[in-house]
Amino acid sequence: MYRITTLSTRKDLTSKAAELAHGEWYVKRKIPLDVVILEYQRRSNTGTLPITIIATCTGNNGELAGMVTLKKTELRQWQYIGPWLSALYVAEIHRKNGIGRKLIAAACRYASAMGFSRLYLFIDPKNFNRLKRFYTRQGWIYLDSAVDEDGQDTEIFFRELKALPQINTDGINR
Ligand SMILES: CC(C)(COP(=O)(O)OP(=O)(O)OC[C@H]1O[C@@H](n2cnc3c(N)ncnc32)[C@H](O)[C@@H]1OP(=O)(O)O)[C@@H](O)C(=O)NCCC(=O)NCCS
Repeated sequence: MYRITTLSTRKDLTSKAAELAHGEWYVKRKIPLDVVILEYQRRSNTGTLPITIIATCTGNNGELAGMVTLKKTELRQWQYIGPWLSALYVAEIHRKNGIGRKLIAAACRYASAMGFSRLYLFIDPKNFNRLKRFYTRQGWIYLDSAVDEDGQDTEIFFRELKALPQINTDGINR
């Protein structure tokens, strides 16, 4: 069983969240872990972006199972649209249990509760075809092709948020 909440309610997991993100996206770019920890400290917010939403185990001392971040901007050439669903990550042993989908749904509800009517994402080129299927099955719609910060070809998708039920932005499913 998993619990979805904001990182702000579990600040003790900030370094763990940063470690997972570092391993997945920043090691190859030679960005030091300390910088990523500072970034996740910035993301342990409520009510103002950036905000990281996490999935924790209800057992195992509430260990971190997954996370996703809502950010104002992504991709240098696309600064005029936002907010963005970013850095979705589920720890390998917890994959294929529906956590990724739940995190996306929670992020959409959160963004809707903040008054946003659209959310954007770009697909990690590392696993492009599988991720594209994963997002389109959940109703994300193709917007345009783009190039990510490493110069890799990718695609931007969006989702309308208008019809989503409102939630309390202090925390999710508390
Ligand atoms: C992409 C990622 C977040 C998905 O996380 P996840 O928790 O495994 O996601 P879900 O369990 O919701 O869905 C994954 C798949 O498992 C399937 N699934 C969900 N629950 C399931 C269950 N109980 N039994 C079997 N399969 C299940 C889903 O249908 C989905 O299939 P699909 O990919 O064919 O659509 C995860 O693989 C990850 O962290 N990857 C590395 C980082 C990354 O690529 N992030 C995306 C950046 S754009």
